[in-house]
Amino acid sequence: MSRRKIIAGNWKMNKTPSETTALINELKPLVANNDVDVVFCVPAIDIIPAIEAAKGSNIEIGAENMYFEESGAYTGEIAPNMLTDVGVKYVIIGHSERREYFAETDETVNKKVLKAFEHGITPIICCGETLTQREQGIAIDFIRTQIKIAFQNVSAENAANAVIAYEPIWAIGTGKTATTAQAEEVCKAIRECIKEVYGSDVAEKIRIQYGGSVNAGNAAELFAEADIDGGLVGGASLKPDFGKIVNYK
Ligand code: G3H
Repeated sequence: MSRRKIIAGNWKMNKTPSETTALINELKPLVANNDVDVVFCVPAIDIIPAIEAAKGSNIEIGAENMYFEESGAYTGEIAPNMLTDVGVKYVIIGHSERREYFAETDETVNKKVLKAFEHGITPIICCGETLTQREQGIAIDFIRTQIKIAFQNVSAENAANAVIAYEPIWAIGTGKTATTAQAEEVCKAIRECIKEVYGSDVAEKIRIQYGGSVNAGNAAELFAEADIDGGLVGGASLKPDFGKIVNYK
């Protein structure tokens, strides 16, 4: 089955609202490719200017995080209906930086995934191993656990529409991309894990991205793999290079 590629930028904690408008105006013509889904996940304060600047283009705007409650006394958090109210379609859940610096766990990831689906927001669910786990030979076991917990109580219908981002932590922002074979091996194992839980239909539909030092030079080779359905791109999504990644063919 051929799945539509999804190429998402994760801006992380970069760009002010005014810089957001300028960057989207600069990148808009460069990422104009209707054969793939193009998503810019931006800091919360940049969401509204990003949506304004992206109007009339093929760019969808996503958030980098979201809370799992509807509203209330959760100082500093963003509720799902705040995102949908302004037109957000995607949200990154459980990025390794949030797990490392902001105490995200597999359980909070699962709660956020369920809440995102409740509001019709597509979660981009991140998973990935540390270098030590890879060296110990437990990367795939570890990722299977992350995935199984992230999808607890998620219906098959929702699971088929989810996006998973496999991001080996040792490859994030380091310039060390996983080899194409390493990336494909894990993305394939993730699809197999989804198949065990939901069956082949869902496994064939779900989209699995690779993330970790994706750039204009390696995107084509990575995205040509059978189980890699696009990328979650950090550093290179803030530059004109993102246009080359989106137009990788
Ligand atoms: O979410 C994106 C990843 O953390 C990858 O970041 O492309 O800068 O390595 P990077």
